[in-house]
Amino acid sequence: MKLSDNKATLSFTDGSPAIELPIYQGTIGPDVIDIRKLYGQTGMFTYDPGFLSTAATASGITYIDGDKGELLYRGYPIEQLAVNCDYLDTCYLILNGDLPNVEQKKEFDTQVTRHTMVNEQMNFFLRGFRRDAHPMAVLTGLVGALSAFYHDSTDITNPQHRYISAIRLIAKMPTLVSMAYKYSRGEPTIFPKNDLSYTGNFLRMMFANPCEDYQVNEVVERALDRIFILHADHEQNASTSTVRLCGSSGTNPFAAIASGVACLWGPAHGGANEACLHMLEQIQANGGLATVGKFMEQVKDKNSGVRLMGFGHRVYKNYDPRAKLMQETCKEVLSALGLENDPLLKLAMALEKIALEDDYFVQRKLYPNVDFYSGIVQRAIGIPTSLFTGIFALARTTGWIAQWAEMIADPEYKIGRPRQLYTGETVRQVKR
Ligand code: SDX
Repeated sequence: MKLSDNKATLSFTDGSPAIELPIYQGTIGPDVIDIRKLYGQTGMFTYDPGFLSTAATASGITYIDGDKGELLYRGYPIEQLAVNCDYLDTCYLILNGDLPNVEQKKEFDTQVTRHTMVNEQMNFFLRGFRRDAHPMAVLTGLVGALSAFYHDSTDITNPQHRYISAIRLIAKMPTLVSMAYKYSRGEPTIFPKNDLSYTGNFLRMMFANPCEDYQVNEVVERALDRIFILHADHEQNASTSTVRLCGSSGTNPFAAIASGVACLWGPAHGGANEACLHMLEQIQANGGLATVGKFMEQVKDKNSGVRLMGFGHRVYKNYDPRAKLMQETCKEVLSALGLENDPLLKLAMALEKIALEDDYFVQRKLYPNVDFYSGIVQRAIGIPTSLFTGIFALARTTGWIAQWAEMIADPEYKIGRPRQLYTGETVRQVKR
């Protein structure tokens, strides 16, 4: 980051001395006003609940332009990565800063493949959960439990330890997600198979069983791999910021990633794909296309508490580029599976058409986000709705661990410790 010639001056109408604040520039995107000395110089904090105007860190991993609807991973547009690369290419890029050459890719794929198994003890841990537990509850537990097994790589100041933890997490997430799924169905877990692709291996662990193997459908494999790419990282979103804050205490990477899984579960964040599909199924059950207009009136009525799930975004005030790619993938998979007349897709497209022409949405710059179509394609693949956020967590693990590693490798990083505006009682004595 570069010190700008421009400076910010903060003056006060009560005659307190004005102060000058430095401004820093990144490579692209908004400049930042450096307020690190503000409290020391003024005795005041800034106030920004929800961090609408706050950059919590400098990062070189992902860039989003919300007005243009642009998303870059290490400078590469998501549209090009989704078409020309696979998910492990993208993991390598996000972790290392550039796309792998042929040898690097081969070595990376082999490293990840060779770490897909989990310690057999994890199965005993898994059996402690109710079979009907939500998969995200199980996944939060399983990911956190990984820190109970890898004592050989917990020195976070050691780049090699950081790297092997990243490989282990990327490699084991598909195994853990499929374990949670199989457990919920009362089926035995399926071991990884090293001669399959990353995504093909995941599909087989999900849908094979000891009595019948699973033939990977190439269209489904490619579609799911693209879904992983689209979800791989997304700047300082809520779960990534959680991973950074959790990791800033110096805890191990498995615990930090488990905090990201827990945060992603929320319906305002990664849980929106599950909530969106439930919304579409509800509309379908209540009469389908004929009732869409009435539903949209509810959404616009503040008192209804109804939101159009899968719509809107804190940063994108234009179409989420991932939503466009997700809609294309959705249509590809549905037609490959002979489901092009899927009523939920028709419903989603009807809702989108109305919203994009309705003043309520246009004024608030509400567009479909990554979650609007992802549930429909996952459902068509056979992934249960309750597992959609688990798939999101699987894909986002590479972004989380790369952002965590970027923070830990920064010699200037400190433990995160925001302050507050206190609005409680003034000091008072206990009278007994
Ligand atoms: C993800 O941050 C990331 O990058 C996240 C993510 C990632 O990859 O990590 O992109 C993944 O989480 C995508 C978002 C998934 N969430 C949803 O689809 C849930 C539905 N959308 C929202 O609840 C909402 O849009 C948020 C949470 C996504 C963004 O919320 P903001 O930025 O805090 O905006 P807001 O809630 O203040 O809404 C602004 C206005 C409000 O109306 P007014 O008070 O101005 O009158 O827009 C309205 C809101 O009521 N609004 C919606 C709406 N989203 C916002 N109204 C109806 N339906 C919606 N979906």
